[in-house]
Amino acid sequence: MARPRLTAVRGVRDVLPEESRHWHGAERLAREIFARYGYGEIRVPVFERTELFARGIGEETDIVSKEMYTFEDKGGDSITLRPEATASICRAYVQNGLHNRPGVSKLFCIGPMFRYERPQAGRLRQFHQIDAEVFGSVDPAVDAELIVMLMEFLDAMGVEGLALQINNLGDAECRPAYAAALKEFLREETRHLGAEIAERVERNPLRFLDSKDPDHQEIIARAPRIDAFWNDDCRNHLEGVCRLLESAGVAYEINPRLVRGLDYYCLTVFEVTSESLGAQNAVCGGGRYDGLVEDLGGPPTPGIGFAIGVERLLQLAGEKAPAQDEETQVYIVALGDAAQAPVFELAAELRAQGVRTERSFGGGSMKSQMRRADRSGAAFVLLLGDDEAAKGVVSVRHMNESRQTEVRREEISSYIKDNL
Ligand code: HAM
Repeated sequence: MARPRLTAVRGVRDVLPEESRHWHGAERLAREIFARYGYGEIRVPVFERTELFARGIGEETDIVSKEMYTFEDKGGDSITLRPEATASICRAYVQNGLHNRPGVSKLFCIGPMFRYERPQAGRLRQFHQIDAEVFGSVDPAVDAELIVMLMEFLDAMGVEGLALQINNLGDAECRPAYAAALKEFLREETRHLGAEIAERVERNPLRFLDSKDPDHQEIIARAPRIDAFWNDDCRNHLEGVCRLLESAGVAYEINPRLVRGLDYYCLTVFEVTSESLGAQNAVCGGGRYDGLVEDLGGPPTPGIGFAIGVERLLQLAGEKAPAQDEETQVYIVALGDAAQAPVFELAAELRAQGVRTERSFGGGSMKSQMRRADRSGAAFVLLLGDDEAAKGVVSVRHMNESRQTEVRREEISSYIKDNL
């Protein structure tokens, strides 16, 4: 009896070679551009102690309260698959003594993240982020440089029609006053919305501003805005960032209602969205977290960063996404048993020369082998059979020009390299 077929769990996906060429292209471009700005790659574990995320991201956030993949390991420790990279990078920054190095530290990280969200278009349970973080400076120029780098990368990816929204969430001085005013307003206005909303308003009134519920929009539109509470420091910081963005030719919009789903932010926050993504319209989000390193037990250290969702990025870039060259360049067809050993050798020779070479296995008719050759996308198909062996040549088909020529066996490598 046939065994039932096994499938992947809900909310994850496989990336096949024709698509992963674009992943490699995007990652290579990120590495190239980020290196130009002085970033080094950090690779942090995909799982950490649960406490790191609970403390870092905030117990009351959706991510921590509902969406974490948390389990007890065999030693009885509570472990969580990382839902984001920032908390882990802060931990690693302190644990590895990077705070003792002079100047700012610029780090980036690329990899999978895990959130138990309801899967839908653009929302996965395992997704990937390209994440960048800068530690050690409160200078608005750091914020501006980070955002300029982000927009340069998105532009180089061929993504169009993006909107950059920016806000300032206040600092330790002005935010509490704003949160108190907002809470008072929402207590009154959301009274009819039930106990769950009332509880959320009490715990974290700012999060209500992030609600996508159509019934809440009218209340949000009337709610007090953070810009009325900014002190001089916050106002100057935002102005400083905006002035530098303008000088770099980066278009932005200030949105005083922009809040983020993680609790560690202060001062600058931003999001990059695209209408064509639908309901899950953010391709990137980020901001400052000047208290996070200290909250995680490190020395007081300001920080700012962003994370781009790779699946959403590639969906937006579509065919314009740069692709790494990984396609087969040469395909060898073996005609008859006698050709098998020479084909094996010829393939090895071409590969040693750096040519991406594939060959047919298991024989088959010329026609079926040619069909496979055609599907491989190779620019050259080499045919090796008895005739060719007797004459000491290889037949070369130029697939893009529909012509065929004979090349001496000992000259084939240089011929291919000259013609690729
Ligand atoms: P975030 O806004 O939670 O921020 O996520 C950043 C990006 O990851 C989103 O804009 C989106 O493109 C992608 N993303 C998030 N959740 C999903 C999902 N379930 N499926 C597909 N894509 C998703 C952070 O993670 C912060 N750590 C960003 C940051 C870095 N802030 C400072 N430094």
